[in-house]
Amino acid sequence: MSLFDDLEQVYQTAQAALEATESVAALESWHADYLGRKGAVTLQTRSVGQLPKEDRPAFGQRVNAIKQALEAAHEARARVHKRAALAATLAAGAVDVTLPGRPVAPGHLHLTTQSLRQLYAIFAQMGFEVYEAPDVELEAYNFDLLNIPAYHPARDMWDTFWVDPSSPSTSEGIEGGDEARLLLRTHTSPGQVRVMRERYPEPIRVILPGKCYRYEQITARSEHQFYQVEGLAVGRDITMTDLIGTIKQFARLFYGPENDVRVRSSYFPFTEPSIEVDTNCTLCGGKGCRICKYTGWIEIAGAGMVHPVVLDNGGYNPAEWSGFAFGFGVERPSLTKYNVADIRYFYGNDLRFLRQF
Ligand code: PHE
Repeated sequence: MSLFDDLEQVYQTAQAALEATESVAALESWHADYLGRKGAVTLQTRSVGQLPKEDRPAFGQRVNAIKQALEAAHEARARVHKRAALAATLAAGAVDVTLPGRPVAPGHLHLTTQSLRQLYAIFAQMGFEVYEAPDVELEAYNFDLLNIPAYHPARDMWDTFWVDPSSPSTSEGIEGGDEARLLLRTHTSPGQVRVMRERYPEPIRVILPGKCYRYEQITARSEHQFYQVEGLAVGRDITMTDLIGTIKQFARLFYGPENDVRVRSSYFPFTEPSIEVDTNCTLCGGKGCRICKYTGWIEIAGAGMVHPVVLDNGGYNPAEWSGFAFGFGVERPSLTKYNVADIRYFYGNDLRFLRQF
């Protein structure tokens, strides 16, 4: 066999071996075996000295051609392997875009916040703006200026959490915090005098939402922390009819047009006359249950015409001005609206309850 035949033989073996490689690693060792420094094709160049002179150029050219052809074939084969490797990786980490998405749980607004926002929207329709007054309040605003002097028996209506004024975190921003006694507001009514003193001599139509605190026993229908939304309108010719109309309109929009409202006469030191507003207990359909104390009605608001003493304390001359005020509980209306059996669920942080709304 001539050296030329040997060369062709090596070429064929190399091609067959290249075809047989199945991985990038196998390709590398193939390259070493045939085209490396001691590879079979490389070694062929050494045979050139054994050839007669006239054959040497042809042999050299053939070896070079074979080397180039094999390098090109190697590159092509490498591309095939790389593509296969990439396809395998993609298949292993494949994302099935047809699968349904995993739900993200971003949480949602607390039932009380939802109710508050509904209340704001309803009163906004009737021209009431939102005014915010402080939770930590002066005794004077919570009681005295609302016509409830110290030792007045009406103070018994609001069992109070008193605030230690020496605590730096509480007295900040409350004027007269040193001499005057501080408390957690027992109702949102103290905001009435704050708004009047700020707005005089403008007519007023505001709601004052906020948390109230009472040192009371916790039961199915009363918590010691709860929200109220106070309403206050002060003007030249405001009458009881305006008050009742406003509350009726509120009840229709909040509970639905079929809802009934009942007004009873009542007593609050800061309104004269005073009323209480009830609505049907939707929990029992009026038959009577624990929540409505077996009356079929549930109290939703205290209200009345602003007492002349309070108007005066706010700077409005009661001979020229009149006004109405009301105070809604926020949790209790939701009790009947959503048929919640116990007010303690609101701030019990039980997600099984909260997630229902
Ligand atoms: N502040 C009263 C309460 O908490 C409710 C009320 C507000 C009554 C405004 C009359 C007028 O019980």
